[in-house]
Amino acid sequence: MEKKDEDYDVIVLGTGLTECILSGLLSVEGKKVLHLDRNSYYGGESASLNLTQLFNKFRPGQEPPASLGRDRDWNVDLIPKFMMANGEIVKFLTHTDVTRYLDFKQISGSFVYSGQRVSKVPANEIEALSSPLMGIFEKRRMKKFLEWVQRYSDADPSTQNGVNISTATMAEAFKAFGLSESTQEFIGHAMALHLDDSYLQQPARDTVEKVRLYAASVLRYGKSPYIYPMYGLGDLPQAFARLSAVYGGTYMLNTDVEEFIYDDQGKITGVKTAEGVARAKQVICDPSYAPQKVKKVGSVVRAICLLNHPIPNTNNGDSAQIVIPQNQIGRKHDVYVASVSSEHMVCPKDHYLAIVSTIVETDKPAEMEIHEGLKLLGPIVDKFVSVSPLEAPLESGANDQVFVSRSYDATSHFETVCEDVHDLWLRITGEPLVLKKKETEQA
Ligand SMILES: *[C@@H]1O[C@H](CO)[C@@H](O)[C@H](O)[C@H]1NC(C)=O
Repeated sequence: MEKKDEDYDVIVLGTGLTECILSGLLSVEGKKVLHLDRNSYYGGESASLNLTQLFNKFRPGQEPPASLGRDRDWNVDLIPKFMMANGEIVKFLTHTDVTRYLDFKQISGSFVYSGQRVSKVPANEIEALSSPLMGIFEKRRMKKFLEWVQRYSDADPSTQNGVNISTATMAEAFKAFGLSESTQEFIGHAMALHLDDSYLQQPARDTVEKVRLYAASVLRYGKSPYIYPMYGLGDLPQAFARLSAVYGGTYMLNTDVEEFIYDDQGKITGVKTAEGVARAKQVICDPSYAPQKVKKVGSVVRAICLLNHPIPNTNNGDSAQIVIPQNQIGRKHDVYVASVSSEHMVCPKDHYLAIVSTIVETDKPAEMEIHEGLKLLGPIVDKFVSVSPLEAPLESGANDQVFVSRSYDATSHFETVCEDVHDLWLRITGEPLVLKKKETEQA
């Protein structure tokens, strides 16, 4: 390590998306950042792999079959997620100008599994009126609800329909519009993207804002609220790494950490690698670099499926998200299905990738947990199933100045990753993260 005894402000371990966003943002703020990864590639748990790397990981010693085509045509996300077109992750990208390193394509449709079938999630009043998800009277109630969500203004009681979203719970708001349980379910799980039903007892404002975000994101590109980077998610951490490098950040791959070094008060002073000691007052890392500082809070099962057809009942689109709400299949956690294809430069023509994921709830073989999602895919060419621990930090990091991120969850969108970035930023700097539009230098 050339910069052996030099002081950094922050050392970041692991090049997962959360860590790369933070090192990018900290570099822009003028912090001196050293970023290490034990792997030879960017992305850690959130990397995208080519065919050879995929087989190496899941079936060491086995060659990919020739029928799958060229290695380099595949970019398979280990943890696929879609971005809300108006979501927080897009704010991170645009406010840092990282979008210049990336190209995006929209996801063709957003669906929900309800009453034993897959239906498009209605995004606005007009779609609500033609949705097969609701009967004729329910459609009118849904239309009124969506209009209320759009128009609601704190300053204008005439827009509020007698519901104060600061004080009323979401359950009360639904009740005010007389919405049925199944309508509440797709609003809460497929539009607001809540992970369970606890939101019903929370103030309605959060859900109202999330439904607005969904609707505004659909308006942006039309077909669905989601977009996805060409060549896979693995390009996202790299783009933030490039941003960090532009602001003087140092990146080193193939470099593992042997030891954390602390002072007498137990505060971190640096890390030891095979090439020497690097010093800094703060360390940020993913759970795999600090196993003694995290607790297991669950497991997530993911199946990466290779298909040669679009997912049935998704309008023959080149891509889709399907949310299967917990109650539809007698579970405590939703099952997520995310599908992309050659249109997104992640596989050769006429191939499709579909990833099914959820939180593990039983001792049964993990595949049983996602059975209901796999069933929706039609014939599957090949399938790679994995179970990963979900880990969370034991402490905030205030005492030792080591800040550990959370594992990536089962959701097929980025909203929870962004929450972790905000949470880490607050713990690291003591202040909330406010994304200011970067002043772009004119060339
Ligand atoms: C809604 O409730 C909040 C908190 O109690 C209050 O400050 C606000 O004035 C209320 N808004 C209306 C329109 O009553």
